Amino acid sequence: MKALVTRDLSKIYRCHLGRQGAPALDGLDLTISPNEVFGFLGRNGAGKTTGIKILCSLLKPSRGSASIFGEEARSRSARRHVGYLPENPYFYEYLTPKETLDFYGKLHGLGRREREAEWDKLSDLLDLREIAHQRVRGFSKGMRQRLGFAVALVGNPRLLILDEPMSGLDPLGRRHIRELILRLRDEGKTLFFSSHVLGDVEQICDRVGVLVQGKLRANGPISELLTGHIHRVEIVAAGLDDTAVEALKALGGYIRHSEAGHHFSADNLERANELAEAVRRHGGGLVEFTPIKESLEDFFMQQQVEAPA
Ligand SMILES: Nc1ncnc2c1ncn2[C@@H]1O[C@H](COP(=O)(O)OP(=O)(O)OP(=O)(O)O)[C@@H](O)[C@H]1O
Ligand SMILES: [Mg+2]
Repeated sequence: MKALVTRDLSKIYRCHLGRQGAPALDGLDLTISPNEVFGFLGRNGAGKTTGIKILCSLLKPSRGSASIFGEEARSRSARRHVGYLPENPYFYEYLTPKETLDFYGKLHGLGRREREAEWDKLSDLLDLREIAHQRVRGFSKGMRQRLGFAVALVGNPRLLILDEPMSGLDPLGRRHIRELILRLRDEGKTLFFSSHVLGDVEQICDRVGVLVQGKLRANGPISELLTGHIHRVEIVAAGLDDTAVEALKALGGYIRHSEAGHHFSADNLERANELAEAVRRHGGGLVEFTPIKESLEDFFMQQQVEAPA
């Protein structure tokens, strides 16, 4: 059974702040398998939060359907499987993290013992012990994000839907969340999250989907989406005199000079080898010869460029 299936999921806001009358989400078809880590990507306003809110039953779709572990997404039984981290988690500011988790534990119908056990587990996992008894009011973005993540995990849901879990976090905080996502995956959970931090996404996702103006433009394993082709080759050459540099500049691809030597960039391996050969012919030597493969960021940018106006 699939963890998440959407068919033709669409949303037209009555008063759309963006393009008038255009759907914020347009015919989203997605299938997510259990235990998958799926990255939901797209620029600001692409429709990620709209899609996520529909999946979490906070918003009614204008068209289409969604199911979670085989049950209609809006049903009570499907919602039991879902843990949700909103884009801007909202808390009762006068409660402490311990009281907050206790409150959500009660909402999930957990007894006192279970709530204690939940606190023990989640406060360890999200590093909440030191701030256990401070009021949320004074919390930094990172502390709020950790608490929000803990709230999403209350009741041990099988599917986690996270709206930008790394947003606003410093590099250490981001690493912590990346590790947590992988750990939850190892425990058998399914993770669906939106993000702008493509480097993080590239490290932890099994599969990504790219939304452009509400439409899913690409969807697949990162290894398949990225061609693996060499994007360009960066070359640094040393030991060249002025005449040699001028001759090489005429071949194209010259970038700059640094302490390391003269920097060139070639569009493909063949061109790079021609340049390297010319460097040697002119009495120089190679200091660096670095093929650069397509990154998720390159791919993402390409999807935007190719989008119809
Ligand atoms: N409540 C609303 N009423 C009207 N229009 C809305 C509403 N919420 C979102 N929109 C519009 O729908 C489109 C998609 O917004 P959404 O918040 O889903 O994008 P997003 O991909 O989550 O963006 P971001 O990366 O900035 O969070 C935008 O054009 C936005 O202006
Ligand atoms: Mg959003």
